[in-house]
Formats: sequence, structure tokens, C-alpha cells
Amino acid sequence: MTTTLLTGIGSLVTNDPEIGEGPLGLITDAALVIEDDHIAWAGPAGRAPGTDTVSDVGGRAVVPGFVDSHAHLVFGGDRTQEFNARMSGRAYSAGGIRTTVAATRAATDEELSATVARYLAEALRQGTTTMETKSGYGLTTHDESRALRIASGHTDEVTYLGAHIVAPELAEDPAAYVELVTGEMLDACAPYAKWIDVFCEKGAFDGDQARAILTAGRAKGLVPRIHANQLSYGPGVQLGVELDAASADHCTHLTDADVDALAQGGTVATLLPGAEFSTRAQWPDARRLLDAGATVALSTDCNPGSSFTSSMPFCVALAVRDMGMTPDEAVWSATAGGARALRRTDVGRLSPGARADLAVLDAPSHVHLAYRPGVPLVIGVWRAGERVAG
Ligand code: NIG
Ligand code: FE
Repeated sequence: MTTTLLTGIGSLVTNDPEIGEGPLGLITDAALVIEDDHIAWAGPAGRAPGTDTVSDVGGRAVVPGFVDSHAHLVFGGDRTQEFNARMSGRAYSAGGIRTTVAATRAATDEELSATVARYLAEALRQGTTTMETKSGYGLTTHDESRALRIASGHTDEVTYLGAHIVAPELAEDPAAYVELVTGEMLDACAPYAKWIDVFCEKGAFDGDQARAILTAGRAKGLVPRIHANQLSYGPGVQLGVELDAASADHCTHLTDADVDALAQGGTVATLLPGAEFSTRAQWPDARRLLDAGATVALSTDCNPGSSFTSSMPFCVALAVRDMGMTPDEAVWSATAGGARALRRTDVGRLSPGARADLAVLDAPSHVHLAYRPGVPLVIGVWRAGERVAG
């Protein structure tokens, strides 16, 4: 057993209201004891117990490692041209996914694996210590199961999204594609995945199809999550809550009934500001959800089409500037909120028993994540008790 004291923490976000102030469980002039891979103690520096080694962070802020619960990292190619066209006025549509499907099918296993590793490492340098990733750019039994096998070599949080869009070769027969996604493809993919997701949207899957897909996944032991109400109003959010999905993601176009369902149910509303930024779309209204009592998570949605960012600090800044969140709420949503969306209790907090996943900021407070947008404030990252970046 090795114990390390991380001390000189000017401001520590624990996300544990029992050991610090407010919902963030904030402690000033703090210290943490890391024992092997987990947090053994957190509190005022003056009361810290003795340890084998000591590391002083010089008055900087420490936050839990970010928990990015929504990303699409298994892809080939890129969509620079599409982004350029969009920034010249063209609208975003689900159809762009087809471009990435063709490039992903053409990529080798080694290329796809290198891509996943690259973006996980890029996110890690920016403080993300837990990151989910989905399939969804293969859309054949072979390509979806290959994507999930590759993803599962890099992260435990793997989601089967065979129902991203109807595969181009079955565009004229969506019922046959739903049958494939809920049958042979599901059987091949389930062993590699923890979650099942569906893009419930005009141009992708309607409410009945989404229900059939999520229910079939659940029967195979996968837990539902859902891309819901991103581009238009629709049945996705309420279906997600009804099926007790872990999260309903996007939540951009919500009726009062959708907001009530999220506030009353156990489904986390995961907001993805990178997507609205990169598609110049209407911002999701985080304030409305929070005021109603919903649990909100923030994630990057990192993918080559609608949101090509791996930066949780950037998402925190956008959520504060444009979605009505306070800096405290946004930091909670990017850490504890993400953990709720992944139904994890071991990450997203820095209190005894949690995995020792944290980011050291070159700033006196977590508020600087929003106050100093675009500045690389994360200067040290620890995951499972080891310094992995900075
Ligand atoms: O979450 N909404 C569906 N899927 C992705 C977009 C994927 C793409 O455009 O390639 C999203 O935004
Ligand atoms: Fe997505």
C-alpha cells in the first residue's frame, strides 16, 4: 500500500456535500490522501494524516476528473468540408453520418483503434478520466461488432448504437434494418457493450422503432440511453424516461411535458453544447431543466460530424455562457452529473472510497473553467492514483 498526500489545494471540489460546502462539497486550503488507486481522506490541509509521499499543488484548484458520458470515437475520415459548408450557411442534418459510415467501413482495425486512443488521450490531457464511446458508424453486423470490440479495448463505457441511422443499403426497407439491429447485430454486439442507444429523430428512428430497439437491448442485458429531441420535438425524451434510460441526450427541443418527465423520472438529461456550437443550433435550456429539478450532465458528444471537440472545459464554458448554468452547476454536471449518467458511484467525486481521478487547474478556483474560456488550465491529471498527464 502506498499513500500520497496531495496538499496545498487552494480550492477542492469534492462533490460530496457531507465533507464540504454546498452541492460541490467545496473545501478551501485542502488536502487529499490517495491510497493506491482511491481517495482515502479529504479535508482541510491542517488536519491531514501522515503519508509516504507528499505533493504540493501550490494553492491551485483541484476538481474530480471529468466524466464524459457521450462520445462517438470509433470513426474513419473527417468532415471538414461539411463543417466548412455549414459555416457558410448550410444546415446540419443526420444525413452527414453516411459519409462517416463509408469511411469507417473502409478503415482498418488498427486505424480505428488508433483513432479511439488518440481522442481518449486528447481528452485525458484536458482532464477527462472517464469517457464513454459508441459504435454507430458501421451499421453492419461485422462493422458494428468490430467497432465495439475495438472500443472495449480502450474504455469500459461502451455503447451499442447500431441504430444511429438506417444503413444506406437498407434505406428503402427500414423495418428490415430494425430487425437486423434487434436480432443478429445485437447478438454479435451485446458481449462488448454495457449500454444500448438509438438516435430517435426524424430521418433516423421514430418512437416505435426506438422502443423496439431499446427493449430488445434490455432483454440482452444492455441498459438503455437515447439520443432524444436534438433536432426537433419528438417522443425520445418521454420514451427514455418510461424505459428508465440512464440518460436522454441532447434535450434541445423540449415541451413542458418533456421537462416534467425528466424532473420526475430517474433519467439524467445530458446536454451536449459542442453540438449546438458546431451546428449553429439553438442552445439547450439547462436553466429550465435545473429549475424543474432534473439532473443535468454535460458531455462533449465528440464525433467528426456535429461536435468535433474532446474538451470538457470548453463545454463547461459554453454551458455557463449560453445555457444559463452557474459555474458551480456546470462543473458539477461535467463531473458528478456524468457519473450519474453512467450510473457510476466510484467516479465524479473526490471523497473517501472514490477512484483517485482528478485534474489540477492552473487557477485558484474551478470557476476559472468558465471565466477563462479556451485557456488550457488543466496542468495535471491523475487517474486511479497515478499521475497520467501534466
Ligand atoms: O450525437 N445525433 C446523432 N449522432 C451524433 C452526430 C453524428 C454525426 O453527425 O456524425 C450526435 O450529434
Ligand atoms: Fe451523439
